[in-house]
Amino acid sequence: MISVLFVCLGNICRSPLAEGLLRHHVEQAGLSDHFVIDSAGTGGWHAGEGPDRRSIAVAARYGVDISSQCARQLHRDDFYRFDLILGLDRDNVRNIRKIAPDDTTATIGLYLEEALGLMKDVPDPYYGDTRDFEAVYRLCDEASAALLCTLTKRPG
Ligand code: 4NP
Repeated sequence: MISVLFVCLGNICRSPLAEGLLRHHVEQAGLSDHFVIDSAGTGGWHAGEGPDRRSIAVAARYGVDISSQCARQLHRDDFYRFDLILGLDRDNVRNIRKIAPDDTTATIGLYLEEALGLMKDVPDPYYGDTRDFEAVYRLCDEASAALLCTLTKRPG
């Protein structure tokens, strides 16, 4: 079993797309039984809410349904439950590391670096428009597909 947690600030715009797209590619590859995929926010302001309607809409345009996800805040238990905790931007990674217990069993990293070898952030689209959400969708689609390849080539 490979477990992956995507983390952004609010868990309503970017990490729901990263989660939904990794799940989509995992399903397409017939590997659903081998993965646990979830997302969370470093902040808890939107806990209990569904994804931002603009994230739901862009995913729906490509036939991916993320509407049943529910935002939650990153929790101490996550550091023992997930193999991989990926921040969507470098601020997120810094904040994840700040609250990580010393004995965490998770590997913490930057999403686009782990997936595509790029030291780049997925830009926060919250104050943007449809084009910004489209750009986030495309980036997460490419990155989650690449991440699946990387993870399934890993030994063990
Ligand atoms: P996310 O976007 O981190 O991609 O979910 C944001 C969502 C909410 C806020 C900021 C970013 N906010 O300030 O409430």
